[in-house]
Amino acid sequence: MDNQFIITVDGPSGAGKGTVSQLLADKLGWHMLDSGALYRVLGVAVEKHGIDINNESEVTDLARNLDIDFISNKDTGEIEPLLQGENLGAMIRTDQAGQAASKVAAIPTVRDALLARQRDFYRLPGLVADGRDMGTIVFPDAPVKIFLTASAECRAERRYKQLKNKGVDANMRALLDSIKARDERDQTRSVAPLVPAEGAFVVDSSNLSISEVLTQVLDFASKSFPELA
Ligand code: DC
Repeated sequence: MDNQFIITVDGPSGAGKGTVSQLLADKLGWHMLDSGALYRVLGVAVEKHGIDINNESEVTDLARNLDIDFISNKDTGEIEPLLQGENLGAMIRTDQAGQAASKVAAIPTVRDALLARQRDFYRLPGLVADGRDMGTIVFPDAPVKIFLTASAECRAERRYKQLKNKGVDANMRALLDSIKARDERDQTRSVAPLVPAEGAFVVDSSNLSISEVLTQVLDFASKSFPELA
């Protein structure tokens, strides 16, 4: 595969990957892959079909046959997932969907089933791929790899503020526990654990503003793609 025009952005949840990926894609006019959304849709689909999330063969069958599409919301510009034609909208963004995604993502045969589907997102003029294993497994030859991280406490606090701003009731302790549980599962699973890819530019955003993170990422990525300077 010709992987010349790919930037991978990996890291734990809440580290700011989505924001960074969107900015890079917008600046370059490239496509975006939100691979977490695929695992989230599968997590929701498992529940909708009444499948036991621990039944690896049934979850894998569902992953192989998943009828999923993504559309862009004309009003918000956000990407929304369609499952068998049904728009799941914000349903995949709940903490419950995130936990379900993390569980199905730990099943090796599920990851195999979704691999080709993720690679198919690559289209010219290029792709920014956001996830956990974009630089290690899905696009190992990508010329630019970024690993964005932050302490669990910082990520929980950001999420807390986000929810409060939306007027959603939130509990800091519960958010921190949930983030730590997901980190633990994503980092210790037997396949494609969350680790920085070789040669990845690692940014710890714990003590950085989003604009400071973007400055560092653009500086690094513009060495390969001068349009970003
Ligand atoms: O990025 P996210 O929070 O939407 O991802 C949800 C879960 O999906 C995450 O906890 C682990 C899993 N995931 C994965 O295993 N590999 C990816 N490339 C993306 C997500």
